[in-house]
Formats: sequence, C-alpha cells, structure tokens
Amino acid sequence: MRDPLSHRPVLYNEIIHVLQPNRAGRYVDGTLGAGGHAWGILKASEPEGRLLGLDLDPEALRLARDRLAPFGKRAHIVQASYTTLRAQLDALGWEMVDGILLDLGLSSMQMDTSERGFSFQQDGSLDMRFDPRNPVQAADLVNNLTEAELADLLFKYGEERRSRQVARAIVLARPIHTTRQLAKVVASATRSGKQGMHPATRTFQALRIAVNQELDALAKVLPEAIISLVPGGRLAVIAFHSLEDRIVKQTFRELGKGAGAPIRLITPKPIRPGPEEIAYNPRSRSARLRVVEKVAERMAA
Ligand SMILES: C[S@@+](CC[C@H](N)C(=O)[O-])C[C@H]1O[C@@H](n2cnc3c(N)ncnc32)[C@H](O)[C@@H]1O
Repeated sequence: MRDPLSHRPVLYNEIIHVLQPNRAGRYVDGTLGAGGHAWGILKASEPEGRLLGLDLDPEALRLARDRLAPFGKRAHIVQASYTTLRAQLDALGWEMVDGILLDLGLSSMQMDTSERGFSFQQDGSLDMRFDPRNPVQAADLVNNLTEAELADLLFKYGEERRSRQVARAIVLARPIHTTRQLAKVVASATRSGKQGMHPATRTFQALRIAVNQELDALAKVLPEAIISLVPGGRLAVIAFHSLEDRIVKQTFRELGKGAGAPIRLITPKPIRPGPEEIAYNPRSRSARLRVVEKVAERMAA
C-alpha cells in the first residue's frame, strides 16, 4: 500500500488560496482525513492560527494526529461527524470561525484498505462504514433490503439506470459477503458501464452513501457552517459526484440569493483540478470545489 501521508490532497493549492488562512485565524476541517489540507492551513496561519479537525474514522484520525503533531495545541482533533459542528465549536468556546473546509468522499487510505470494503477493485468484506460505531454495514443493505428497496437505493444514490436489473441480480445471488462477489454480480447484470467506468461504480457509490447517510449529513451541515463563519469567512466544499455537487450548488445559490443574503458566491463556476493534478492523481478528476464568503451583517439603523 502507498504511504497515505505522501499523498498530495486534492486541490491543495486552491484550498489554501481561497481560505486565505491568517496568522491568528480559527479554522475547521470537517473531513480531516490524513490531515493534508489541515497541515497546509496550519502552516499558512502560523504562528497562532488554530484548527478544529473532525472525522468519523479513527484510522484517519490516527494518521492526522501524527501528521499534525508538530503544531501542538494549535490543532484540536475530535472523532465526530461534521454534522455536530455547532456542538463542537460550542465545546471549544469558538462562536465563529474564519474558514471551514469539507473535502467530501473517501480518502485514498480508505479506498486502498481492502478490509474496509469501499473498493470493487480489491476483495474485502462489504463494510463501507466511515465510522466503525455505525451499526449498519453495506452487507446488511445488500442482503436484507427487498428487491424494490434495493432498486430505489441504486437509482437514488447511484443514479444507476439499470437499477432494477442490478437489484434483481443481487437478490438472486444472495447472500453476498465480499466486494468482489458483489462487483461480479453487478457486472453480469449490466454488462458494460459508461466508457471507462467499471459497471459496479454506481452500485458501490450508492451503498456507501446509504451506509453513511452522506447526503443528509451534507444538507444538514451547509447552513450550520455558514452560520458559524465570521463576516468575510469562507466555506469551501469539494464534491466528488453530481449528487453531492448538486446539494452544494443549490444550497449556495439559495442562500446567496437576493439583497441581504448571508453569503456571496466566490466561485460562480466550480474550480476543477488541472491536467497536471489529474495526471498525478487520477482520482481527483471528478473533484469540484465551490466556495462562498459570509457577508457582513448590515448594522441596525
Ligand atoms: C477525502 S477524505 C479527506 C482528506 C483530507 N482532506 C486530507 O487532506 O487528507 C474525506 C474524509 O471525510 C471523512 N468523513 C466522511 N463523512 C464524514 C462526516 N459526516 N463527518 C466527519 N468526517 C467525515 C471520511 O472518513 C474521510 O476521512
């Protein structure tokens, strides 16, 4: 396995550029992962900038703790969902922060660890939980949902056009316990995917979103994050597929509308990785970064 600490985070320079960390600022990385972006934010906000890092995955937090150790108490790391952002800030006594980052989706470490069950390219158990305390694993959904429920899930969270065929094939092949078994069943039901795309991509995406309730979490955190910014503070979100990106885009558009709106759009069009980054890290190719800035509240007359 590649050393995850050697991996350059997606849109790294762009994130530092848009968050503009300042020397005494307070920042939140809601999806800390191995701490790559967080490292850059702490470095750029020397000597006093502080960062709250959240992640659900204890393995990611272990890597982040190691990586951010040189920053000492300037980095505060908690195992928690970013949906608890407000409570975490209150616990620290931070009413407002200067910047918030959400780098959604999977880390390379998670993808490359076969036992986590995220990848159809490796054989592992059908787990897919970010948080090992989560009682629901992908295997529970695959083996216990009805055919109709499975088809709905694949359609809604995977935008799988052949959702009924895939659901039928899964039900006929049950019980399914491993990623490789599932990938084979899906491939046999769909035959071919979009050019270059493995036929099981959408099924794995759908299961992962459902296991971790990712879209609900994202819809919940965005308004809370905006409320938590100081005037001039920025929220940056990197999405990796169209379902996530749609929620980010619509929420930003909705909250940025009209006179007196609490935010303004910094990125009318999403920022995407350039060819050099995609060549270095092919997984970055679907990333889309959107950024908003909190607008100063009007003073009461
Ligand atoms: C793409 S990785 C982040 C990588 C990180 N930016 C870096 O530089 O290493 C996404 C991380 O978000 C975490 N995650 C997913 N859903 C979460 C949630 N609701 N709350 C907190 N962390 C979450 C995952 O466990 C994963 O480690």
